[in-house]
Amino acid sequence: MPEPKQLFVNLFEMACVSHITHGLWRLPGNNRERFADLDYWLELARLAEHGGFDGIFLADVIGHYDVFRGGPETALREGLQSPNLDPLLLVPAMAAVTDRLGFGVTFSTTYEPPFAFARRMSTLDHLTKGRIGWNIVTSYLPNAARNFGLDGELPHDDRYRLADEYLDVLYKLWEGSWDDDAVVADREAGVFTDPTKVRYIDHVGERHRVAGPHLVHPSPQRTPVLFQATGSPAGIEFAGKHAEVVFTGGRTSADFRRNADGMRDAAQRHGRGRDAVKFVAMAGVIVGRTQEEAGDKWRLYRQNASLDGILAHSGLPVDLTAFPRDMTVSEALRRADFPAERVPFLPLAKTVGEALDSIANSRDDRFLVVGDPKTVADEIERWLDDDGLDGINLRQYHTFDTARDFAELVVPELRRRGRMPAEGRHGTLRERLFGEGRARLPESHHGARYRGGANLRSDVAAPSAAAG
Ligand SMILES: Cc1cc2nc3c(=O)[nH]c(=O)nc-3n(C[C@H](O)[C@H](O)[C@H](O)COP(=O)(O)O)c2cc1C
Repeated sequence: MPEPKQLFVNLFEMACVSHITHGLWRLPGNNRERFADLDYWLELARLAEHGGFDGIFLADVIGHYDVFRGGPETALREGLQSPNLDPLLLVPAMAAVTDRLGFGVTFSTTYEPPFAFARRMSTLDHLTKGRIGWNIVTSYLPNAARNFGLDGELPHDDRYRLADEYLDVLYKLWEGSWDDDAVVADREAGVFTDPTKVRYIDHVGERHRVAGPHLVHPSPQRTPVLFQATGSPAGIEFAGKHAEVVFTGGRTSADFRRNADGMRDAAQRHGRGRDAVKFVAMAGVIVGRTQEEAGDKWRLYRQNASLDGILAHSGLPVDLTAFPRDMTVSEALRRADFPAERVPFLPLAKTVGEALDSIANSRDDRFLVVGDPKTVADEIERWLDDDGLDGINLRQYHTFDTARDFAELVVPELRRRGRMPAEGRHGTLRERLFGEGRARLPESHHGARYRGGANLRSDVAAPSAAAG
């Protein structure tokens, strides 16, 4: 009998009060308002590591949600992803109190230049001994664009085109600029780094000019594990070339499989194997010792969810809450003098109440299970075997209860079924995902083409004259 497929589990986090379960920070015992206290992160990291989690995955945005009601007021009242701390800076503290927990951090390719980011990630890869991953995002908030000198967002597909160049610069720095044996630390000869094994990258492209050399010597993984969330054609093509782990969804198993297959096809087009990409979904797991206990928790979370928070997060450009629930959406739009073409996703013939309920519940459709440990484990096995999922990002409803419940009630059951390793996985983050000896990007990955200094010259060659 083949070994059963094992689940990879990240705890989904963000250094703010209200990440994705809006309104719930007010629940008794919820620790979310401690997010700016370092002890919060140390406690969480220890809990996650001892509880069998593979990683903590930190989301991030670099602006305010100010589309709903035309300003940031609702988001500010709700604590919706604001205030929000820099996720990269939390990692060393958590790494210091753990040995094997992985860390996924989100960073956008659209606004900050790549050289400084390459250095920060190499630093984190060293400090964590190869436990770092990067969630590549291109950013979606109009306010983020205005924070970085633009009037508004760049067009969606342009962001991916620029991200492609951004990644090229990073690979040149991470993979091509230094050889593995460049640091010799020869005290007698008085040579720390052998200069013949370090090189400029001299990248000149559409948006970036970067001379190099990289400022940090090779770290355990060199390139961090590359995560990405996407569903758009441009995003899927990008993921096929770059991503190693993709967040994907779909309303039905068939949808999910189609999305995953699209991603596998894209990977193949870029010379990688169909199994080069792993699939992770954001999942809700509400577990109790009994079905009844789990059901009570679920009702509590539903009753305390904040519709305002959900709507502000969704960026709905028209405030439907200003109209009676039994009015049709088309009538509400008419009264708001708002063109229906700008909200093609709204059901015009339905009532305002039905439309709001459907937005409020849209995150709950898929990869959600409420029940006792057996029910939960049965469902997770279905996700692994029928849907083809490799892992989950566990959505938190209550901090630290969601993580503690999963650790105490679900992990032992999954371990009994051979669906999680008995002691937690070891090695670098990439090895834990793809197997021993796989600390670095595989040879078939685009980033590997710069190894040893190969292919460094840009198509638009104009070597930098920088020296000293
Ligand atoms: C599980 C998950 C986590 C995400 N985390 C972030 C995040 O932290 N920051 C961010 O700007 N976007 C985040 N996104 C949004 C994605 O980066 C992306 O904008 C979205 O999936 C749409 O991509 P597409 O336009 O290529 O389909 C996340 C999406 C998903 C599904």
